[in-house]
Amino acid sequence: MRVTRHRLRMGAALLVTGALALSGCDSTGTEAEPAPSASPTPSRTFTAGAAGVGDAYFPSYGNGGYDVDRYTVKVRYDPKKDQLTGTTTVQASATADLSTFNLDLAGLTVTAVTVDGAPATHRRERNELVIKPASGLINGNGFVAEIAYTGVPKPLKNETLGDGGFLHTPDGAIALGQPESASTWFPVNDHPSDKATYDFEITVPDGLTAVSNGVPGGKASKDGWTTWKWSEKSPMASYLSTLVIGEFRITTATHRGKPVYNAVATAANGSADSSIAETTKVADYLETVFGPYPFDAYGGVVVTDSRISYALETQSRPVYAASFFRQGENTEVVAHELAHQWFGDSVSLAKWEDIWLNEGFATYAEWLWAEHTRKDTAEEAFDTQYARASAQVWKTPPGKPGVPGLFSESVYQRGGMTLHALRVAVGDEAFFEIVKTWAAEKRNGTATTAEFVALAERISGKQLDALFDAWLYGTKKPALPKRL
Ligand code: TRP
Ligand code: ZN
Repeated sequence: MRVTRHRLRMGAALLVTGALALSGCDSTGTEAEPAPSASPTPSRTFTAGAAGVGDAYFPSYGNGGYDVDRYTVKVRYDPKKDQLTGTTTVQASATADLSTFNLDLAGLTVTAVTVDGAPATHRRERNELVIKPASGLINGNGFVAEIAYTGVPKPLKNETLGDGGFLHTPDGAIALGQPESASTWFPVNDHPSDKATYDFEITVPDGLTAVSNGVPGGKASKDGWTTWKWSEKSPMASYLSTLVIGEFRITTATHRGKPVYNAVATAANGSADSSIAETTKVADYLETVFGPYPFDAYGGVVVTDSRISYALETQSRPVYAASFFRQGENTEVVAHELAHQWFGDSVSLAKWEDIWLNEGFATYAEWLWAEHTRKDTAEEAFDTQYARASAQVWKTPPGKPGVPGLFSESVYQRGGMTLHALRVAVGDEAFFEIVKTWAAEKRNGTATTAEFVALAERISGKQLDALFDAWLYGTKKPALPKRL
């Protein structure tokens, strides 16, 4: 979904329809030569959509030639058999004249595909599902693909960054991961540059809970199975989707007119419950710094599977490993994942290289939350990191961390320090205006580091390239920041 281009795309669609009527497009996928007349009807060449969006770090992620608006994911999971069966409907618009297009889908067997209601042929090339519609798709036009599939879902192996995706647990399943996860349970344009809205219908055996993103849509039981509905109406990057099935302690509430839905694995201790119960309080504090909470729902999920050792900012409902709460209450991690709701989820990456835009802001939010709760000030946190960061942190540029460094200490800590250096350089007033404006202007969209630097310069009226060069791209410890 590219929000800013909606208007343009509709214009293009209208024009194309006109041309189509004139030229008499057939369904063979290539078009007849235009008539030799003054009529400006272009001849159309339908070509295969690319198998990746062109991310320098992950060339195979996502696909070219279309833009998804909405996914409807309906799956049934049987934990006893570890069997997933489902249908995913992809509402999209072509951004090129397409003979075929790809979706990302790992494992699982596709049983049927239709495009605009007509049967389409399909083949698999590793984790790419290649779909050939009965007739070519015209640039600017909307289309609907429906994919039926089944199989035993498997996580995606990644030795450097950790496996991502669907895990079978003793009582259910967890689908979670960054930078990829979604393609292990539904066909998807799996790159954050193509955000879309999502509706989920998850069917599980009676007695189990199925939690996902967004607003809860209730549950209904029939013949021993319960279908849980979830709806994420704000554009979401695919890696921020999650599915957690199991036995949970559920807490629900309404906060400022929005549903709160918290789920804690029954095996987790009480500090998990009390920590994520602080979600709305932390969100309300972050609002004072970043501007309005960007989504329609609040919540958190705590899981106990030992293979999950992280928390992830899954949209509107982060997932936390229970280990965060083993020592007692921990709201720092809640502040981190909630900060991502603004930075990462609402303002998303156009390319994975810019990951510091997510993690640097989330780290800085932890420092602000600590200060707010009368622990170290953000300035003290900066000083501590500046004094103690390892040589590796100064060697690794957080603005260009490389794939192995994507979740490195530099991205988190030096990313956070970069924001504090900016604050010192431009002063508190300009700094917090920059942060709020960034969240507001890029809300529901995607953004780049270059755009952030430009915004910071615009609002502060200062030349900031030397500062960002040193903090984001340098391979030596930068000098202490000074007020510019
Ligand atoms: N982005 C997560 C955070 O900082 C951390 C993370 C990186 C992660 N890779 C992951 C979490 C894979 C779960 C799975 O909050
Ligand atoms: Zn993070």
